[in-house]
Amino acid sequence: MASRIICIANQKGGVGKTTTSVNLAAGLALEGAETLLVDLDPQANATSGLGIDTTVQRRGVYHALLGMDDLDRLRLPAPEVERLSILPANQDLFGAEVELVDAIAREFRLKEAFGRAARLPDFVIIDCPPSLGLLTINALTAAHSILVPLQCEYYALEGISQLTRTIQLIQRRLNPGLTLEGVLLTMFDARNNLAHQVSEEARAHFGDLVFETVIPRNVRLSESPSFGRSIHHYDKSSRGALAYRDVARLLVQRHRQGGEHPR
Ligand SMILES: Nc1ncnc2c1ncn2[C@@H]1O[C@H](COP(=O)(O)OP(=O)(O)O)[C@@H](O)[C@H]1O
Ligand SMILES: [Mg+2]
Repeated sequence: MASRIICIANQKGGVGKTTTSVNLAAGLALEGAETLLVDLDPQANATSGLGIDTTVQRRGVYHALLGMDDLDRLRLPAPEVERLSILPANQDLFGAEVELVDAIAREFRLKEAFGRAARLPDFVIIDCPPSLGLLTINALTAAHSILVPLQCEYYALEGISQLTRTIQLIQRRLNPGLTLEGVLLTMFDARNNLAHQVSEEARAHFGDLVFETVIPRNVRLSESPSFGRSIHHYDKSSRGALAYRDVARLLVQRHRQGGEHPR
């Protein structure tokens, strides 16, 4: 299987990017795929969510971006999860966006870091910060596809046109091959009419690019990061775990078949 690089992006905060990144990455590993999770958010929630202490000074994704060290040396094995490694975020990443502004080929820094790796795993999942700044642009430039988590709440689709425009711009200027992996509805509460409304609107807008599987609002998903565990290790039979496992299974199927396209 060729490596598949998927970036998890939406410029809104709190829509489930990190929850999706961590639990999808761990789900992919459980499905048998070698997976690397790249934490591109200075908040480092994906790093801590997998049980890695973020108060320790260590090299991480910042050093890969600045070309100061190689990905193969920087990545850490995820505690507990076989076949999963993580390129951790670290404190320095807060300054990276500003430092990169004057750098040569500033949009291509992550792509180049991947290019220098001896070998990429089956899947690379990139957790993006809540903005469309240079870090997210690096992710979109390096990726094969973007997966957009959409929270089933008020104003969910607001901002989506800005995201769509950014994707088109990246396709024109930086990464012609970038595709939409899909739109994933998150925090879905079946008892809430609004959730159904958002789901219908998203499906009207994106058609079958919306994953059939929806991620339910599930308290176990919000608890698991504070234990430093993926949902599959914290409570593998919870509804949240089953849903993320479903999406992981689908992605493995999709990309083993070479792209097209069970949903
Ligand atoms: N499906 C879900 N059910 C319940 N809580 C969730 C769910 N998805 C995310 N959360 C919680 O919502 C908050 C925001 O999610 P997060 O993944 O950090 O979003 P983002 O990375 O987009 O900012 C977190 O506290 C997280 O634990
Ligand atoms: Mg996040």
